[in-house]
Amino acid sequence: MQNHPTLSRLIAKTTQTAIVVIGLLTPLLANAQTEKGTGAMDMKARVQTCVACHGDQGKASPEGYYPRIAGKPQDYLFNQLVHFREGRRTHSTMNYLVQNLSDDYLMQMAAYFAQQHPPYPKPLPSKVKPDILARGKQLVLQGDPSRKLPACAACHGEQLTGLAPTMPGLLGLPRDYLNAQLGAWLKGQRKAAEPDCMASIVKTLTTEELSMATAYLASIPLPADPKPKPQGNIKFPMECGTHNVKTASTSSTSNTTPVSSNPLEQSIQRGAYLSKLGNCAGCHTQAGGKPYAGGRAILTPFGDIYATNLTPDATSGLGTWSADDFYRAMHEGKSKNGKLLYPAFPYNNFTQMSRQETDDLFAYLRTQTAVQQATPEPSLKFPYNQRQLMRVWQALYFKQGEYKPDTTQSAEWNRGNYLANGPGHCNACHTPRNAMGGLDMDSNLAGATIPVLNWYAPSLNNSTESGLGKRTVEDIVQVLKTGQSEKHATYGPMAEVVRHSLQHWSDPDLRAMVVYLKSLPAQNTSEKPPKTMITAAAQPGIMRQGATLYKNQCADCHGQNGEGKANQFPALAGNNHVTDINPANSILMILNGGYAPSTAGNPYPHGMPPFRNTLKLSEVAILSSYLRNSWGNKASFVSEIEVEKLRAAAR
Ligand code: HEC
Ligand code: HEC
Ligand code: HEC
Ligand code: HEC
Ligand code: HEC
Repeated sequence: MQNHPTLSRLIAKTTQTAIVVIGLLTPLLANAQTEKGTGAMDMKARVQTCVACHGDQGKASPEGYYPRIAGKPQDYLFNQLVHFREGRRTHSTMNYLVQNLSDDYLMQMAAYFAQQHPPYPKPLPSKVKPDILARGKQLVLQGDPSRKLPACAACHGEQLTGLAPTMPGLLGLPRDYLNAQLGAWLKGQRKAAEPDCMASIVKTLTTEELSMATAYLASIPLPADPKPKPQGNIKFPMECGTHNVKTASTSSTSNTTPVSSNPLEQSIQRGAYLSKLGNCAGCHTQAGGKPYAGGRAILTPFGDIYATNLTPDATSGLGTWSADDFYRAMHEGKSKNGKLLYPAFPYNNFTQMSRQETDDLFAYLRTQTAVQQATPEPSLKFPYNQRQLMRVWQALYFKQGEYKPDTTQSAEWNRGNYLANGPGHCNACHTPRNAMGGLDMDSNLAGATIPVLNWYAPSLNNSTESGLGKRTVEDIVQVLKTGQSEKHATYGPMAEVVRHSLQHWSDPDLRAMVVYLKSLPAQNTSEKPPKTMITAAAQPGIMRQGATLYKNQCADCHGQNGEGKANQFPALAGNNHVTDINPANSILMILNGGYAPSTAGNPYPHGMPPFRNTLKLSEVAILSSYLRNSWGNKASFVSEIEVEKLRAAAR
């Protein structure tokens, strides 16, 4: 260890993915087996995912890379979780794990960890020179009035152990962690709610001074009672966004408006529902951004395309658009200014909507708060940045026209077909695309790997091999409505579709769509298995090693025989997704873990811890192969190269 590492060097070190060995999970899992019935929610079982990194009870990992979260003020913890979900703080695993969890659930997690008070470790003996520590102490306890710099203690508490409910303590945290946080604020990578007083404080200090302050903070032992003191009516020397970020902001619009007799209001209500069917807000809202104000990047193999601002702002949104302009965009993929639109906007599906429906949607979008926010230009490689080329693309791959019912089929089936292929745009992910990004409609909904994201969206037809053929309508409806059924859970991009769109669909609509999907003839995907896959049949060595790994790391949740635990942990035995032609989903789950989405029907889903830092690439390959060939499952073996590719790729 260097004696005076500069802040920038530490930032560079700590922001890389640390290679850390997390202790064996097994002892923490005992609780998973004992959760009883309905009623009281077992938070301990639900935060196993978190303690895999943050340590038992959230007391921090042994070397301190994963910070202590135990005993921190509840609203502070809640605010951080919301910041991670909305992108004001970045750490890829944290961002990913909480992205589909509700405020309510994040508050439950915050409450759980705020109530844990495991003992603090003794601070490591400081190797920093006494004069540096003395200078650090002065900054922390007195600040520097000549520069209007308040003392850290003026906000973080006289004891520096924080003030409940929102002000975090600064003791018991490793110096690396403190440095990384202050560095992140300097670089704009960590933000708090406005006014973000920490952002101004770090700018007032030099990097040497920040480093002195953290050296001092990391050197002091904790007082006898390290719990945060109540904030009371202490007045802070600067204004900070020290409120609960959610209760302070006005709550979002609810869908419970009573049915109106006013035709315009009826139109707006229908439009609101259509917007849920089409997940317009999901794409057209940036993480942490204003609803429908655009700016979210849609990743494609050709580059990033930004969803536009749909609010009624006159300069950057649809303020000057007419209902005709809007119909043309939805129907012909043509913007008001005549520019042809990229199919990252699923107009090849939305073209099936009727004029009445696009008018309803337009009326609804008109009721949104106007937000002035220009949409970034797409960042596409040549020649894809030439919009006029879309003329050729549209001629080849785009069929315009409203939905035409098939009169030989029932009304329910027709509604389902329309929902899946129209507003629901399921084929945006579940249908293979050609090299130009056009949908291969001969294999509609037969399963496809999502470009860039690498998740596999399985077949939705009646095939028993990879599709929904073996499952009942009720089971599939439940998984789409709540994100979880007895044996299945949704994850990855599908969890987002459920959270933002499908959970809001009416029961008859969900049912109609599933009835339609189950009527689709069994057809296997046109996807080729990954080239790097081993297809050897008998691999007794791999199966033996896999069984041991599985027993130690996975069986507590997924069951000794892969049977899962009803409505909590999905079954792996007989699970058609574990044996999909493309093994990507199982591999990605083992690497990154995840939570099923919070929905009204399943507000506090269980999670799975990431194993990317605890298992070797070869072990992940062995485990995936084992899952694919145990308990009656039968599928190709997985190679280490396949795992490596997915590990390296961005999520
Ligand atoms: C892969 C390991 C990992 C897992 C799993 C994980 N975290 Fe974290 N978490 C981190 C890291 C690393 C940081 C620090 C990020 C940074 O530098 O800003 C962090 C930061 C946090 C913070 C902010 C701490 C502070 O004092 O500001 C909270 C709160 C938190 N995590 C809660 C959770 C919860 C709740 C879960 C489970 C849902 C969870 N974490 C799962 C690695 C993890
Ligand atoms: C005017 C009040 C104020 C002062 C003065 C102040 N802080 Fe903070 N600090 C905050 C607030 C508020 C937060 C929580 C921000 C959030 O919600 O993310 C915070 C958070 C932090 C964190 C993140 C803690 C964690 O667990 O991740 C660190 C580190 C920190 N401050 C260090 C300092 C240091 C060092 C000083 C003195 C040089 C200082 N602060 C002075 C208000 C203050
Ligand atoms: C999968 C993501 C996605 C979904 C879902 C989506 N959009 Fe979009 N939308 C985009 C992208 C990306 C663009 C920008 C296309 C471009 O730049 O060519 C866009 C563009 C548009 C435009 C053209 C705006 C202009 O200025 O030209 C309109 C109108 C629009 N979307 C409306 C909607 C509506 C209404 C819904 C819901 C029914 C919806 N979108 C759902 C991604 C999406
Ligand atoms: C953004 C991409 C995307 C879109 C859009 C999408 N899906 Fe999925 N879907 C996936 C992925 C990836 C999976 C695999 C992960 C999983 O099983 O949750 C999946 C899985 C599924 C499953 C299997 C879940 C289980 O329990 O076995 C069903 C059913 C499904 N999708 C239906 C739909 C329907 C219906 C639509 C349209 C309304 C749709 N999906 C739209 C990506 C998508
Ligand atoms: C703490 C409990 C827990 C542990 C331990 C755990 N899982 Fe999971 N697993 C879950 C949960 C919960 C889900 C669903 C997550 C979601 O929907 O995002 C899941 C999902 C999965 C899936 C996706 C199933 C599907 O339908 O496609 C696979 C594969 C999987 N786990 C494999 C493993 C393996 C292999 C291990 C051991 C290395 C393991 N899990 C350890 C809880 C756990």
